[in-house]
Amino acid sequence: MAVRIAIVGAGSGYMPGVIRGLLHRSADLAGSELVCHDTNAEHLELMARLARGMFAARGADFTVRTETTLKAALDGADFVFTTFRPGGLPGRHLDESIPLRHGVVGQETAGPGGFLMACRSVPVLLEIARVLEEVAPDAWIVNYTNPTNIVTDAVSRHTGARIIGLCDQNIGDTEMWAELLGLPADGLEIDWIGLNHATWAERVRLRGDDISAEVAARLATLGPPDAAATPHRDPIRMAEVGRALGVLVNSYSKYYFFHDDVVAELRAKGTTRAQDIMAMLSGYYAGIAEQAALPDPDPSGERGGGEHGEFAVDTICAIAGDEGRRMIVNTRNRGAIADLPDDAIVEVPAVVGRGGPTPLVMGGLPGPVRGLTQAVHAYERLAADAAVTGDERVALRALMAHPFVRSKRVAEAILAEGLAAHRADLPQFRGTPAAAEGVPRP
Ligand code: G6P
Ligand code: MN
Repeated sequence: MAVRIAIVGAGSGYMPGVIRGLLHRSADLAGSELVCHDTNAEHLELMARLARGMFAARGADFTVRTETTLKAALDGADFVFTTFRPGGLPGRHLDESIPLRHGVVGQETAGPGGFLMACRSVPVLLEIARVLEEVAPDAWIVNYTNPTNIVTDAVSRHTGARIIGLCDQNIGDTEMWAELLGLPADGLEIDWIGLNHATWAERVRLRGDDISAEVAARLATLGPPDAAATPHRDPIRMAEVGRALGVLVNSYSKYYFFHDDVVAELRAKGTTRAQDIMAMLSGYYAGIAEQAALPDPDPSGERGGGEHGEFAVDTICAIAGDEGRRMIVNTRNRGAIADLPDDAIVEVPAVVGRGGPTPLVMGGLPGPVRGLTQAVHAYERLAADAAVTGDERVALRALMAHPFVRSKRVAEAILAEGLAAHRADLPQFRGTPAAAEGVPRP
């Protein structure tokens, strides 16, 4: 399957993991061409050098080209792999800190922080889709740019491009639950259903056998994991929430069910995740540069962990090779989840082949999280509409619809601060009614 893959955001710190993902399928993808694009020319050239070095050292038959304009990068692509962050980490820092000032969890994808990120990501994805119409109308966008579900929704409702939304969280969450429940991770399959970063599960198989009843029984008596062996709070909270609700929960569930505790912790911590990453990033890139200069580069401790790149490349192979592989992806519901509209973008098990993902029928959402998931969906739909149109009234509705936001005043304050802080990256919000009427912005 020799294909042309355009990578938009190829200078990203996640790129070494993508290179490893490509290596893991190098036999299947032999003869393929990677066209790398990034707005940061220095990081772009560095990652291209690293990719060439790693491919050469391991005998992988790939060619690597860099392009600095989007149109040249996308020209003739079979796949467009999007893995960029408009506004960069300084933008993420704002997303994580503005809501927090108003007593709301500040997170890059969940809640108002995710809303602000959607407003930056969506216009760029719409532009990619527009260029694709011209230079590669049959290409598949394989999207990691967050919030992946809102981006996928905007692109699929507003453009003719084909898109599949990715997140590898389900892999890590499955491993986490294997440990919590005392089950082997190998061969464990959990049917995560819901919305990206808001999935739940009741159905579990181990090497093909349905063990849902056994899992429910273990969950009902699940004690907290050994705190000494689990210094991190996340699994403790997942176990607690999962037991209380009687369903397996994803790692973002803490933001919903421990909202105020998380706000207090984030405030006490004093730095945002974006700041923590920025502090390590120059050392990280220096390490990559050192490795790229070696005959057999092996960047360790890369961003994104093991599964991230493999998951994306497996998705590309599933489509290119018409593999009919079962994967958990973000796509149109089409009846897969009974309690959400058919045109909602949901995260569900799907069979992925040449025609893209076909979601599998999963039935209803677990009762205790049905209403929450429906509320988050209502927010996501409004957020996509606001991000596409730049209509501030719709933006306010989106924030007011989000379960984290419990006051109109708070929604208004976060919106005003967020739009002002990100103004340079939000072309669609210029010329909104307020601006047209000459009302000064904060
Ligand atoms: C997980 C999520 C991604 C998110 C990432 C952030 O992988 O599924 O959607 O972007 O974490 O990780 P970071 O190291 O940047 O905080
Ligand atoms: Mn994710």
